[in-house]
Amino acid sequence: LRNEALEKVKKAENVKELQDVRVSYLGKKGPITEVLRGMGKLPAEERPIIGQLANEVRESIAKSIEEKQTQLEKEALEKQLREETIDVTLPGRPNTVGGPHLLTKLIQEIEDLFIGMGFEVAEGPEVESDYYNFEALNLPKGHPARDMQDSFYITEEILMRTHTSPVQARTMEKHEGKGPVKIICPGKVYRRDTDDATHSHQFTQIEGLYVDKNVRMSDLKGVLNTFAKKMFGEDREIRLRPSFFPFTEPSVEMDISCKMCHGEGCSVCKGTGWIEILGAGMVHPNVLRMAGFDPDEYNGFAFGMGPERIAMLKYGVDDIRHFYINDVRFLKQFHHA
Ligand code: PHE
Repeated sequence: LRNEALEKVKKAENVKELQDVRVSYLGKKGPITEVLRGMGKLPAEERPIIGQLANEVRESIAKSIEEKQTQLEKEALEKQLREETIDVTLPGRPNTVGGPHLLTKLIQEIEDLFIGMGFEVAEGPEVESDYYNFEALNLPKGHPARDMQDSFYITEEILMRTHTSPVQARTMEKHEGKGPVKIICPGKVYRRDTDDATHSHQFTQIEGLYVDKNVRMSDLKGVLNTFAKKMFGEDREIRLRPSFFPFTEPSVEMDISCKMCHGEGCSVCKGTGWIEILGAGMVHPNVLRMAGFDPDEYNGFAFGMGPERIAMLKYGVDDIRHFYINDVRFLKQFHHA
């Protein structure tokens, strides 16, 4: 019996088979249990001999099962380790990391350019009063130019700002009639437009304002020229065209020369050789006066530009909606821009 059992233990190929051997030889219904159970029926002098023998057999079988068990477990572990070895020569899978939005980066870049020219960054509220958005900028109620900026009104007196120009008025007020004021104000603005490739009901602007004694139109032109060359390349030219804004007099629009232009077919400037990129002008005396500055002592210039438009020109983006839909395939292209 013992040899038969030990033979089976030896042959067991896995833990399950070994378990079966254990049950069949050492289990409650196994031959050894049976022998031990039948002890009572044996003559008294045979009992110790048979009992000792049965115990011996049981122990030696149990011991060999135990040894085999350890061996099988070790083998199983080794096999697992062998199968699960890591191939360190495989190429890695890179983690995908987010990054700042193209517009965020562009706005920071523009901020840095102007900070380099002595400007400070100022901010103002997106929910604005009619007073700062229009009145203080020389756009009294009923002024026809208010229609240029169809607005989202919240109440009769409160609206989503339609441009960043109200920050001009707010910042000047804080200076209590004393210059210089030299700020740029980036931020979101809102207009009642139907969204399409070139319009969005929400977009961003960067406003610039410089108020001091003896600020001249040539200062404006110098600052904008520096900006355009730093932003688009040293080979760019600028030109100022007469325009109209109620809060500046005189008012201009600035174009930069169109680098992509190959004559009539140019899709960027339609063959004109110039692209409009911002509005600007000398701060209107009424605006200075309302914000507490004496227009006989102080004057200044202001400008306003749209980072979306600049990004579209700089990176060839053909639809303004790309900035807001947040398709990662679009966003990813500019992580290293
Ligand atoms: N606020 C004007 C606009 O939104 C831009 C502008 C700003 C023009 C400052 C002149 C001076 O169109």
